[in-house]
Amino acid sequence: MSTAKPLVIGNWKMNLDLVEAVHLGQQLGVLLKNHPAEHTQIVVAPPFVDIRSVVSIVASERIPLGVAAQHVNPHDNGAHTGEVSTAMLKRLGVEWVLVGHSERRALYAMDDAAVTQTLRAVVRSGLNAVLCVGEAPEIREESGEDEWVARQLRSALDGLDERFRELITIAYEPIWAIGTGLTATGEQIHDMTLHIRTVAAALGLAGVRVLYGGSVNGENATSIIAKGDVDGFLVGGASLKAESFLAIIQSCDDCYALKR
Ligand code: PGA
Repeated sequence: MSTAKPLVIGNWKMNLDLVEAVHLGQQLGVLLKNHPAEHTQIVVAPPFVDIRSVVSIVASERIPLGVAAQHVNPHDNGAHTGEVSTAMLKRLGVEWVLVGHSERRALYAMDDAAVTQTLRAVVRSGLNAVLCVGEAPEIREESGEDEWVARQLRSALDGLDERFRELITIAYEPIWAIGTGLTATGEQIHDMTLHIRTVAAALGLAGVRVLYGGSVNGENATSIIAKGDVDGFLVGGASLKAESFLAIIQSCDDCYALKR
Protein backbone atom coordinates (compact mmCIF):
# COMPACT_ATOMS: atom_id res chain seq x y z
CA MET A 1 0.00 0.00 0.00
CA SER A 2 1.22 3.51 -0.69
CA THR A 3 0.80 6.16 1.99
CA ALA A 4 -2.58 7.09 0.54
CA LYS A 5 -5.63 6.40 2.66
CA PRO A 6 -7.39 3.21 1.62
CA LEU A 7 -10.51 3.41 -0.50
CA VAL A 8 -13.13 0.67 -0.78
CA ILE A 9 -15.87 1.00 -3.39
CA GLY A 10 -18.90 -1.29 -3.56
CA ASN A 11 -20.15 -1.67 -7.12
CA TRP A 12 -23.72 -2.90 -6.79
CA LYS A 13 -24.03 -3.28 -10.59
CA MET A 14 -27.63 -4.01 -11.72
CA ASN A 15 -28.62 -5.40 -8.33
CA LEU A 16 -30.86 -4.14 -5.51
CA ASP A 17 -34.07 -2.24 -6.16
CA LEU A 18 -34.89 0.94 -4.28
CA VAL A 19 -36.13 -0.83 -1.15
CA GLU A 20 -33.22 -3.28 -1.06
CA ALA A 21 -30.69 -0.51 -1.66
CA VAL A 22 -32.01 1.59 1.22
CA HIS A 23 -32.01 -1.49 3.44
CA LEU A 24 -28.36 -2.27 2.62
CA GLY A 25 -27.41 1.37 3.19
CA GLN A 26 -29.05 1.29 6.62
CA GLN A 27 -27.39 -2.00 7.52
CA LEU A 28 -24.02 -0.55 6.57
CA GLY A 29 -24.80 2.48 8.70
CA VAL A 30 -25.46 0.33 11.77
CA LEU A 31 -22.36 -1.83 11.23
CA LEU A 32 -20.13 1.20 10.67
CA LYS A 33 -21.45 2.83 13.82
CA ASN A 34 -20.48 -0.25 15.83
CA HIS A 35 -17.22 -0.86 13.95
CA PRO A 36 -16.09 2.52 12.65
CA ALA A 37 -13.52 2.54 9.87
CA GLU A 38 -10.95 4.98 11.15
CA HIS A 39 -8.83 5.33 8.05
CA THR A 40 -10.73 3.88 5.13
CA GLN A 41 -12.83 5.93 2.77
CA ILE A 42 -15.95 4.04 1.70
CA VAL A 43 -18.04 4.57 -1.40
CA VAL A 44 -21.03 2.68 -2.81
CA ALA A 45 -22.17 2.69 -6.43
CA PRO A 46 -25.90 1.90 -6.61
CA PRO A 47 -27.97 1.70 -9.81
CA PHE A 48 -29.13 5.14 -11.02
CA VAL A 49 -32.69 4.69 -9.75
CA ASP A 50 -31.49 4.06 -6.19
CA ILE A 51 -29.04 6.93 -5.93
CA ARG A 52 -31.33 9.62 -4.60
CA SER A 53 -32.64 7.44 -1.77
CA VAL A 54 -29.18 6.18 -0.83
CA VAL A 55 -27.83 9.74 -0.73
CA SER A 56 -30.79 10.76 1.47
CA ILE A 57 -30.29 8.07 4.09
CA VAL A 58 -26.53 8.58 4.09
CA ALA A 59 -27.14 12.27 4.86
CA SER A 60 -29.99 11.89 7.33
CA GLU A 61 -28.37 9.04 9.27
CA ARG A 62 -24.85 10.49 8.96
CA ILE A 63 -23.43 7.30 7.47
CA PRO A 64 -19.77 7.70 6.44
CA LEU A 65 -20.34 6.64 2.83
CA GLY A 66 -19.69 8.45 -0.43
CA VAL A 67 -21.96 7.71 -3.36
CA ALA A 68 -20.82 6.86 -6.88
CA ALA A 69 -22.56 6.35 -10.19
CA GLN A 70 -21.61 3.28 -12.22
CA HIS A 71 -21.59 5.18 -15.49
CA VAL A 72 -22.40 8.57 -16.99
CA ASN A 73 -22.92 10.04 -20.42
CA PRO A 74 -20.17 12.52 -21.38
CA HIS A 75 -22.53 15.02 -23.03
CA ASP A 76 -23.98 17.94 -21.09
CA ASN A 77 -27.60 17.42 -22.15
CA GLY A 78 -29.77 16.87 -25.21
CA ALA A 79 -30.98 14.02 -27.38
CA HIS A 80 -29.42 11.02 -25.60
CA THR A 81 -32.37 8.79 -24.80
CA GLY A 82 -31.84 6.67 -21.72
CA GLU A 83 -28.72 8.51 -20.57
CA VAL A 84 -27.77 10.59 -17.53
CA SER A 85 -25.37 13.57 -17.35
CA THR A 86 -22.72 14.59 -14.84
CA ALA A 87 -24.76 17.66 -13.86
CA MET A 88 -27.71 15.41 -13.00
CA LEU A 89 -25.49 13.25 -10.81
CA LYS A 90 -23.99 16.25 -9.05
CA ARG A 91 -27.44 17.58 -8.30
CA LEU A 92 -28.19 14.27 -6.54
CA GLY A 93 -25.09 14.55 -4.34
CA VAL A 94 -23.00 11.99 -6.21
CA GLU A 95 -19.24 12.53 -5.81
CA TRP A 96 -17.74 9.63 -7.74
CA VAL A 97 -18.21 7.91 -11.11
CA LEU A 98 -16.85 4.57 -12.30
CA VAL A 99 -15.44 5.04 -15.78
CA GLY A 100 -14.86 2.26 -18.29
CA HIS A 101 -15.80 -0.74 -16.18
CA SER A 102 -15.05 -3.85 -18.22
CA GLU A 103 -18.76 -4.70 -18.39
CA ARG A 104 -19.46 -1.31 -20.01
CA ARG A 105 -16.54 -1.84 -22.38
CA ALA A 106 -17.55 -5.40 -23.32
CA LEU A 107 -21.35 -5.32 -23.23
CA TYR A 108 -22.12 -1.70 -24.17
CA ALA A 109 -19.45 -1.02 -26.78
CA MET A 110 -17.53 1.51 -24.70
CA ASP A 111 -14.26 1.85 -26.58
CA ASP A 112 -11.11 3.66 -25.43
CA ALA A 113 -12.23 6.90 -27.08
CA ALA A 114 -15.54 6.83 -25.21
CA VAL A 115 -13.72 6.06 -21.95
CA THR A 116 -11.45 9.07 -22.47
CA GLN A 117 -14.36 11.35 -23.34
CA THR A 118 -16.31 10.16 -20.29
CA LEU A 119 -13.34 10.52 -17.95
CA ARG A 120 -12.78 14.10 -19.12
CA ALA A 121 -16.45 14.97 -18.66
CA VAL A 122 -16.42 13.52 -15.15
CA VAL A 123 -13.37 15.40 -13.90
CA ARG A 124 -14.31 18.64 -15.65
CA SER A 125 -17.54 18.58 -13.69
CA GLY A 126 -15.53 18.18 -10.48
CA LEU A 127 -16.51 14.57 -9.83
CA ASN A 128 -13.96 11.90 -8.87
CA ALA A 129 -13.32 9.36 -11.62
CA VAL A 130 -12.46 5.71 -10.98
CA LEU A 131 -10.80 4.60 -14.19
CA CYS A 132 -11.20 0.83 -14.59
CA VAL A 133 -8.56 -1.07 -16.55
CA GLY A 134 -7.76 -4.75 -16.95
CA GLU A 135 -7.03 -7.48 -19.44
CA ALA A 136 -9.07 -10.37 -20.83
CA PRO A 137 -7.90 -13.94 -20.11
CA GLU A 138 -6.48 -14.48 -23.59
CA ILE A 139 -4.28 -11.40 -23.21
CA ARG A 140 -2.89 -12.69 -19.91
CA GLU A 141 -2.27 -16.12 -21.51
CA GLU A 142 -0.04 -14.39 -24.05
CA SER A 143 1.61 -12.26 -21.31
CA GLY A 144 0.28 -9.13 -22.99
CA GLU A 145 -1.30 -7.64 -19.85
CA ASP A 146 1.31 -4.95 -19.16
CA GLU A 147 1.09 -3.56 -22.64
CA TRP A 148 -2.71 -3.77 -22.67
CA VAL A 149 -3.15 -1.94 -19.39
CA ALA A 150 -0.52 0.68 -20.30
CA ARG A 151 -2.43 1.38 -23.51
CA GLN A 152 -5.71 1.77 -21.61
CA LEU A 153 -4.05 4.14 -19.14
CA ARG A 154 -2.32 6.25 -21.77
CA SER A 155 -5.44 6.48 -23.85
CA ALA A 156 -7.51 7.77 -20.93
CA LEU A 157 -4.96 9.89 -19.08
CA ASP A 158 -2.49 11.27 -21.59
CA GLY A 159 -2.78 15.05 -21.77
CA LEU A 160 -5.10 15.29 -18.78
CA ASP A 161 -4.99 18.81 -17.37
CA GLU A 162 -2.90 18.99 -14.22
CA ARG A 163 -5.75 20.42 -12.16
CA PHE A 164 -7.80 17.25 -12.61
CA ARG A 165 -5.15 14.76 -11.52
CA GLU A 166 -6.23 14.60 -7.92
CA LEU A 167 -9.70 13.49 -9.02
CA ILE A 168 -8.39 10.26 -10.55
CA THR A 169 -8.30 6.79 -8.99
CA ILE A 170 -7.30 3.72 -10.99
CA ALA A 171 -8.92 0.31 -10.49
CA TYR A 172 -7.12 -2.73 -11.88
CA GLU A 173 -9.72 -5.39 -12.60
CA PRO A 174 -8.52 -8.38 -14.64
CA ILE A 175 -11.59 -9.49 -16.58
CA TRP A 176 -10.93 -13.15 -15.81
CA ALA A 177 -11.24 -12.41 -12.08
CA ILE A 178 -14.51 -10.44 -12.15
CA GLY A 179 -17.42 -12.40 -10.72
CA THR A 180 -15.62 -15.69 -11.35
CA GLY A 181 -14.33 -16.50 -7.87
CA LEU A 182 -10.81 -16.50 -9.38
CA THR A 183 -8.71 -13.78 -7.78
CA ALA A 184 -5.39 -12.75 -9.19
CA THR A 185 -2.52 -13.86 -6.96
CA GLY A 186 -0.84 -11.41 -4.61
CA GLU A 187 2.20 -11.47 -6.88
CA GLN A 188 0.20 -10.79 -10.04
CA ILE A 189 -1.56 -7.89 -8.34
CA HIS A 190 1.69 -6.56 -6.91
CA ASP A 191 3.40 -6.61 -10.30
CA MET A 192 0.50 -4.95 -12.05
CA THR A 193 0.06 -2.32 -9.34
CA LEU A 194 3.71 -1.41 -9.68
CA HIS A 195 3.38 -1.27 -13.46
CA ILE A 196 0.29 0.95 -13.20
CA ARG A 197 2.05 3.31 -10.79
CA THR A 198 5.01 3.59 -13.17
CA VAL A 199 2.87 4.28 -16.24
CA ALA A 200 0.68 6.70 -14.27
CA ALA A 201 3.73 8.57 -12.92
CA ALA A 202 5.05 9.02 -16.47
CA LEU A 203 1.66 10.57 -17.29
CA GLY A 204 2.02 13.02 -14.39
CA LEU A 205 -0.06 11.01 -11.92
CA ALA A 206 2.55 10.03 -9.37
CA GLY A 207 0.92 8.89 -6.13
CA VAL A 208 -2.43 8.02 -7.73
CA ARG A 209 -4.49 5.53 -5.73
CA VAL A 210 -4.60 2.08 -7.29
CA LEU A 211 -7.39 -0.33 -6.34
CA TYR A 212 -7.81 -4.00 -7.17
CA GLY A 213 -11.11 -5.57 -8.18
CA GLY A 214 -12.09 -9.12 -9.08
CA SER A 215 -13.69 -11.60 -6.67
CA VAL A 216 -12.51 -9.76 -3.56
CA ASN A 217 -14.23 -11.01 -0.42
CA GLY A 218 -13.92 -10.91 3.35
CA GLU A 219 -11.56 -13.89 3.33
CA ASN A 220 -9.03 -12.83 0.70
CA ALA A 221 -8.95 -9.05 1.25
CA THR A 222 -6.26 -9.05 3.95
CA SER A 223 -3.85 -11.15 1.96
CA ILE A 224 -4.41 -9.14 -1.25
CA ILE A 225 -3.87 -5.82 0.46
CA ALA A 226 -0.73 -7.08 2.20
CA LYS A 227 0.84 -8.70 -0.86
CA GLY A 228 -0.67 -6.68 -3.67
CA ASP A 229 0.47 -3.20 -2.66
CA VAL A 230 -2.98 -1.81 -3.50
CA ASP A 231 -4.71 1.18 -1.90
CA GLY A 232 -8.05 -0.56 -1.59
CA PHE A 233 -10.67 -2.42 -3.57
CA LEU A 234 -13.46 -2.19 -6.09
CA VAL A 235 -15.86 -4.86 -4.90
CA GLY A 236 -18.80 -6.36 -6.78
CA GLY A 237 -20.56 -9.43 -5.36
CA ALA A 238 -19.23 -9.11 -1.81
CA SER A 239 -20.49 -5.52 -1.55
CA LEU A 240 -24.11 -6.70 -1.74
CA LYS A 241 -24.02 -8.02 1.83
CA ALA A 242 -23.24 -5.59 4.64
CA GLU A 243 -21.17 -8.09 6.64
CA SER A 244 -18.87 -9.15 3.82
CA PHE A 245 -18.42 -5.54 2.67
CA LEU A 246 -17.56 -4.52 6.24
CA ALA A 247 -15.01 -7.34 6.52
CA ILE A 248 -13.23 -5.98 3.44
CA ILE A 249 -13.31 -2.44 4.82
CA GLN A 250 -11.84 -3.64 8.10
CA SER A 251 -9.03 -5.49 6.33
CA CYS A 252 -8.03 -2.21 4.67
CA ASP A 253 -8.36 -0.28 7.88
CA ASP A 254 -6.23 -2.74 9.88
CA CYS A 255 -3.58 -2.92 7.18
CA TYR A 256 -3.32 0.87 6.99
CA ALA A 257 -3.09 1.16 10.78
CA LEU A 258 -0.27 -1.43 10.84
CA LYS A 259 1.71 0.26 8.11
CA ARG A 260 1.59 3.74 9.58
P1 PGA B 1 -16.66 -8.95 -8.30
O1 PGA B 1 -16.82 -7.65 -9.25
O2 PGA B 1 -16.13 -8.46 -6.99
O3 PGA B 1 -18.06 -9.51 -8.20
O4 PGA B 1 -15.72 -9.87 -8.99
C1 PGA B 1 -15.85 -6.63 -9.25
C2 PGA B 1 -16.25 -5.54 -10.22
O5 PGA B 1 -16.71 -5.84 -11.31
O6 PGA B 1 -16.12 -4.33 -9.92
